[in-house]
Formats: sequence, structure tokens, C-alpha cells
Amino acid sequence: MKLTDRLLKIASLVSDGKKIADIGTDHGYIPVYLLKEERVPFAVLADVNKGPLDNARKEVIQNNLLEKVDLRLGSGIEVLEIGEVEEVIIAGMGGILISELLEAKKEVAHSIEKLILQPMQAQEELRRYLLNNGYEILTEVLVREDFRIYEIIVAKYTGKNTIIEDEIQFEVGIKLLENKDSLFYDFVEKKIKTYSAIVNQLEDKHGEEIDRKREESKIAIRKLENLIK
Ligand SMILES: C[S@@+](CC[C@H](N)C(=O)[O-])C[C@H]1O[C@@H](n2cnc3c(N)ncnc32)[C@H](O)[C@@H]1O
Repeated sequence: MKLTDRLLKIASLVSDGKKIADIGTDHGYIPVYLLKEERVPFAVLADVNKGPLDNARKEVIQNNLLEKVDLRLGSGIEVLEIGEVEEVIIAGMGGILISELLEAKKEVAHSIEKLILQPMQAQEELRRYLLNNGYEILTEVLVREDFRIYEIIVAKYTGKNTIIEDEIQFEVGIKLLENKDSLFYDFVEKKIKTYSAIVNQLEDKHGEEIDRKREESKIAIRKLENLIK
């Protein structure tokens, strides 16, 4: 078992000595790695599908870790009770699904000391959900794997909403800018390229919706350029 850079970065954000849950664990690589390294004493490995949970079970057995884990079949954090674990990882799913999973069992989501969230898409929607629903974004980290830059958002419920200065901060987390993440420039450049491609595609096309989209994309490009000036 060799962890990819994305999985290693997620694992690095777990605090030593904490009981954890890995939701949507699939292969179970992150908790198995953390248990083997003796960085955490106990882990819940959960997945909504039986196949992935069986994969995780095999990995756990191969590594002789059955006594230190609980394997649970079920959706999201519905498999958890308050106080069972201190930190939760939800990685490799869409941002909207992640927010739905937090919303589905709020009392547990609110009790977790650290939520380590790695959305594959809809990162903007996840930030919007967190900041408008009483979660504080503690930090954000970028990690490059193959040709992609992945976003990892670390959050905790505080009960206080965060007012952002500009909508662009839902798309580019403010903590990334504050932390001067080494991939920040490349990350923003990629976004500028995506918006520029939209503007180019819409060239010579007209209509209310198209004009609005083009204008929004141009505004986003200007804001993104300002971030890396
Ligand atoms: C792409 S894999 C990600 C595996 C691993 N977390 C990672 O980041 O590499 C997504 C996993 O989430 C599981 N999953 C999807 N919806 C889920 C839900 N509602 N609750 C728990 N697990 C879910 C899938 O069965 C699958 O094993």
C-alpha cells in the first residue's frame, strides 16, 4: 500500500492521538496508514457501499489492525454517534454531497473537533455551505497529483457564520491566500485559463444568458488576476 500525494496530504492534517472516522473510505488507505504509523489509536472506516467496505476490511486484516477499527456500512456521518471520534475525513466526493452528509446528522457534525474535507468538485458550494452554516474554515491546503490540483478544506463548527468580502472567496479560499500556499499561483492561473476559455467560446455569440455568462467570466478573470498580482 503506497499512499498517493493527495492521500498523504490529507493524512498529514489529522492530529496525532485523535480518534478518527474516514467516511467514504473505499480502500481504507488513510486510516490504515495512520494506524500503522501509530499516529491515531482508533478509526471508524465507513462506506455506503458494501464493495468498498469489503476492500477496506481486506486492507485492515492484511495489516493486522482489526482490533483498532470499526467497519461500518452506511451513509455519511449517520454511522457515527456524538463523542465516538474527534476528527472526521470526508475525501474524494463532490462538495455538494459532502455538505449534504454534514447536514444529514448535524449534531455529530457540530461535535467534531476537525473536519478534513477534500471535495473533488463543487468546492465553491462546499465553502458557501460551511461559511453560511456556522463552520469556521481553519485552514486550506492544495496538493498536486498528476495534472490536478486538489483542494483540502479543514473546518470546525463554531456556530458563527463568516461574512466574506467578495464572492470570489467561495471559489478561492481566503486561507489559501493567507497561507501563501506554494501551489496558489498555479491554482489561480488554472482558474483564469478556464474562464478565458469560456470567454473565447462565447465570442461572437449573443443572447441575454450568453452575455451574462461572458460578463461574469470577465469579472472573475479580473478578480483572480488581482489575487496573484
Ligand atoms: C472516489 S471514492 C473516495 C475514496 C477515498 N475517500 C479517497 O479519497 O480516495 C468515494 C467513496 O465514497 C463512497 N460514498 C459515496 N457516497 C457515500 C455516502 N453517502 N456515504 C459514505 N460513503 C459514500 C463510495 O462508495 C466510494 O467508496
